[in-house]
Amino acid sequence: MTRRIRKAVFPVAGLGTRFLPATKTVPKEMLPIIDRPLIQYAVDEAIEAGCDTLVFVTNRYKHAVADYFDKAYELEQKLEKSGKREQLDLIRNVLPPGVRAVFVTQAEALGLGHAVLCAKPIVGDEPFAVLLPDDLIWNRGPGALKQMADLAEARGSSVIAVQDVPREQTGSYGIVATESFADRSGRIRGIVEKPSPETAPSTLAVVGRYVLDPRIFDLLESTRPGAGGEIQLTDAIAQLLDEQAVDAYRFQGTRFDCGTHIGLIEATIRYALDHEKLSDAASQLMQNALSELGVIESQ
Ligand code: UTP
Repeated sequence: MTRRIRKAVFPVAGLGTRFLPATKTVPKEMLPIIDRPLIQYAVDEAIEAGCDTLVFVTNRYKHAVADYFDKAYELEQKLEKSGKREQLDLIRNVLPPGVRAVFVTQAEALGLGHAVLCAKPIVGDEPFAVLLPDDLIWNRGPGALKQMADLAEARGSSVIAVQDVPREQTGSYGIVATESFADRSGRIRGIVEKPSPETAPSTLAVVGRYVLDPRIFDLLESTRPGAGGEIQLTDAIAQLLDEQAVDAYRFQGTRFDCGTHIGLIEATIRYALDHEKLSDAASQLMQNALSELGVIESQ
């Protein structure tokens, strides 16, 4: 596998139960950090990494994701008439020219592995990226996927993003066992889904960025439901390891787990504090709130 990745898959067909009741009508990926939905951050990261074909695996209730990337004629006309150029550019650049969006339906939420398999007819026989938009990765330099695509191209391997987590949290992640790490990466020897802290082979947790060889599709086709009765991407990756090189990569950047309440709050605070127009006001608001609640002494 030596080719540059051009296609990115966004599995966004999950039910998002942790954000009910909001996710009854608003898909989790459309929850905003400041003024951009989570999906936009992931899309921008994929485009920066060189992808020009974006495959969204949705379910039949998630029209909002497709609508978001569609052209909004009426809104554009209104903004144009009222001379709101800045806002017009914002909505027109949701997808830059030359980038195409393809939508595939996952008929039933049978798991992440199954969702990735739904993208097979579009991806075909080339290496591709998978991005889970609820893992938001913030970095001042190149995005996490760009870092991974460069490594995958240089090594000719599949690459999986990992980060160190406290041992008591291994049960929430796929966990990898690797050979020794150099320059942020190490060859994966084994991978298990959600092991208990006592049985976890390491504390290196898989986060939602992958560069995968298309062989994964064949393996997914024969993968039986695993943890939680779902077809797990982790189980197919475990088989891929027996055949090909797969590297774990400790990306540069900070990851926010926006699939959880606290992760979404943390990301919002961080992006607000780093925002060129909002940072002073956000910092003041936070201090006021903390002192009003008696968490810090008022100044
Ligand atoms: P999660 O485990 O976060 O599940 O899926 P979820 O349904 O989105 O959220 P909760 O746990 O109910 O709150 C990880 C990723 O895999 C996608 C999700 O959309 C998310 O991006 N996924 C999961 C699918 O696309 N299809 C599935 O069948 C399952």
